[in-house]
Amino acid sequence: MTHAKIKKVVFPVGGLGTRFLPATKSMPKEMLPVVNKPLIHYAFEEARAAGAQEFIFVTGRNKHAIEDHFDHVYELQSHLSTKNKRLELEMTSDWLPPPGNISFIRQQEPLGLGHAVWCARHAVGNEPFAVILADDMVLSKTPCLKQMVEAYDEVGGNVLGVMDIPREKTGSYGIVDIDADAKPRNRRLIKAKGLVEKPSPEKAPSTLSIIGRYILQPEVFHILDRQKPGAGGEIQLTDAITKMIGEKPVHGYRFEGVRYDCGGLVGFVAANVAYALEREDIHDRMVSELREVFKRGRVKE
Ligand code: G1P
Repeated sequence: MTHAKIKKVVFPVGGLGTRFLPATKSMPKEMLPVVNKPLIHYAFEEARAAGAQEFIFVTGRNKHAIEDHFDHVYELQSHLSTKNKRLELEMTSDWLPPPGNISFIRQQEPLGLGHAVWCARHAVGNEPFAVILADDMVLSKTPCLKQMVEAYDEVGGNVLGVMDIPREKTGSYGIVDIDADAKPRNRRLIKAKGLVEKPSPEKAPSTLSIIGRYILQPEVFHILDRQKPGAGGEIQLTDAITKMIGEKPVHGYRFEGVRYDCGGLVGFVAANVAYALEREDIHDRMVSELREVFKRGRVKE
């Protein structure tokens, strides 16, 4: 069976980024750099590598820098081209999607992830689509969403990126209630019989957590039309997906790769180190700098 292609990706970028204050006082958290690229740029590249052509950003106030990032910057470009700085020009604008393939929607109030995704309903229309949360980064050989699209091509329905976490952390994530009787063909797939948003370790049905990668059927919008606030008083995407179970299959996909939760300081700094070490041009210098840092210990202790 063939399944409708995933052409559109939604990026909810309305969050306030309070964990990163004061850096995020006047700058969106999605513009924080990991090495030399903003978080949102990695998310965009991942969407593109998975075959997406339309990029829908659900923004909030104070997010202009994201729009500017996805536009030309004429003064800089003309300066770079006068100086014949080909590489810098490439990094500035060669990757921009064609006009009309990128859109920005305002989520006027931060009512939760489910609400942010619902704000994109008219832009997405009646077709399956993907959601990427830029603060979840996955360092992998094959980009995470591409892996998921391949799995989706086999099973259709809804596919969520999942990974095992220590039980004490279940309260920070959506957790999968695994259908142990189902035997999906792909060894990385598991079938969900339920999902719970941020359960306490005692109540969590498993330790399999959802990361910020989703392939969803458009029916989720009808459910979100009527979705009441859930955990944390927010309209939860997890709750709406749960309601689709039985109508449309929901699979978790254990992606290949390492996830960095850049929603918090430690994950973000760790991602910077890991992504820097991946780079051929700075790998060796990074290793010796890091050795020095560890050898030195804490300076202000
Ligand atoms: C959101 C989702 C949660 C998911 C997480 C992944 O939570 O609601 O189900 O596990 O992203 O990062 P948030 O991080 O916005 O609190």
